[in-house]
Amino acid sequence: MTEDLHGLAMAAIAASTATDDPDYPMFHLAPPVGRLNDPNGLVVRDGVYHACYQFSPFHPHRKLVYWGHASSLDLATWTHHEPAIVPDSWYDRSGAYSGSAVVHEGETVLVYTGNVRPDEGGRESYQCLVRSSDMEHFVKDSRNPVLPTLPGGYTEHVRDPQVWREGDRYRMFLGAQREDLTGCALLFSSPDLLEWAFDGELRFPIGEGRFDALGYMWECPALIRVPDEVTDEIHDVLVCCPQGLVTDQEGFENIFPACYLIGRLDGLDFHSTGEFREIDRGFEFYAPQAFAEGPRTPLLIAWAGNASEDDQPSIERGWVHLMSIARELTVRDGRLVQRPRLAQPATQQQQSAGVSTASVDLAPDALAGSRAFALTAELGVSEGATWQLRLGSEASHVDIVIASDRLEVDRSSARYAPQSTRRVSLPDVDVRRVTVIHDRSVTEIFVDDGEVAFTMRSYLDPSVAGARLLATVDGVAYGVSAQRFD
Ligand code: FRU
Repeated sequence: MTEDLHGLAMAAIAASTATDDPDYPMFHLAPPVGRLNDPNGLVVRDGVYHACYQFSPFHPHRKLVYWGHASSLDLATWTHHEPAIVPDSWYDRSGAYSGSAVVHEGETVLVYTGNVRPDEGGRESYQCLVRSSDMEHFVKDSRNPVLPTLPGGYTEHVRDPQVWREGDRYRMFLGAQREDLTGCALLFSSPDLLEWAFDGELRFPIGEGRFDALGYMWECPALIRVPDEVTDEIHDVLVCCPQGLVTDQEGFENIFPACYLIGRLDGLDFHSTGEFREIDRGFEFYAPQAFAEGPRTPLLIAWAGNASEDDQPSIERGWVHLMSIARELTVRDGRLVQRPRLAQPATQQQQSAGVSTASVDLAPDALAGSRAFALTAELGVSEGATWQLRLGSEASHVDIVIASDRLEVDRSSARYAPQSTRRVSLPDVDVRRVTVIHDRSVTEIFVDDGEVAFTMRSYLDPSVAGARLLATVDGVAYGVSAQRFD
């Protein structure tokens, strides 16, 4: 008898007590049970945000990836639905791997990789379609797999379709590994999402070879069209996750990075004179994706996790990992800017402003006892003035040092800290603007109006709460506003 994989997942969800865990987030999307990784098939339909995601309901007992499905009107309150893709077909029987959504003739079409690990070893990957006319019922296309064979010259590591409309055709990226064990992205095109032609590898004509052997495998390549804040021009932003990247640039400390390059895609050529950078400088951030059919300013969500980090405290309570909050993307001075979209209504707000006196301790009263809050501070940092923002208590905290030339983060006293400290160099300024969003076991920091983003898991002791801000010197101006959500 074949297994009822849908029923088994629904039973695992029904039996879950994950949301009773004090570490379970209030407004970040987290799995109802089991493991979550990449966001998939993000799409806005009839004003509703739909986020699918890599979902392993039986983790850690059994590894089998479905597409979970949640929806939201405000990107803060999430409703969980039945899985959108169940890996119960011959072409996805070892997992329904990552992919994207596109709207075709009024239907939402999910495009994903069917992963198959034959008993005799190796791996096969098939690109497949799932259709929905109402975002409630999802039907696998009877013509699956629509891309049953792969072009020569690549290993079995070819996956993660991102599909978008360009003129009268669809284009698709796949992340790939060449036979010489270097990473790249492949481009395909199709008139109807069913017949796909291989167009070739993504090329970088003015990259002087810099991008030709970037890591051993590219996961989740994507193209996002992002408006420029100043010129209003629309840029092509190439997003990719090259595994095994070696670079002497500051950053890139995570096991795998999520990167971007701003330029213009013309056929197979990505023209860019820009810098290849990490999207987020935090400890946990991977496989970002933007909503299809979204507003003109794209919204990005990422997995606030990374490979080799499944040993988090929440696993004891039957769930692991969550998503970042959504960020509005723009380009400013050749860099990607991310502003948090936080529609969560505050239960309390407080503002204060002034000039620091010896060891001023700005403990916003509004945050007393809070484990889910946002804090925005405008801090004088000239002439060596630094500030320390402490989330939590003396015994269990995340410390964030804010200075004119850097941000420093220390989570070494938290219950989970595989990497505990990090420094991010920043351009010199006199006044630094920082927004910190904390939601029980995850913290996101946005610096200087979205120029730097820093995402991390922050498992503080559940009995500690709130935040304090300390100045190191007298006489520097500050403004703080705090909002709590719990
Ligand atoms: C990235 C990734 C993808 C793959 C999926 C499997 O985190 O490894 O390349 O499709 O996760 O869950």
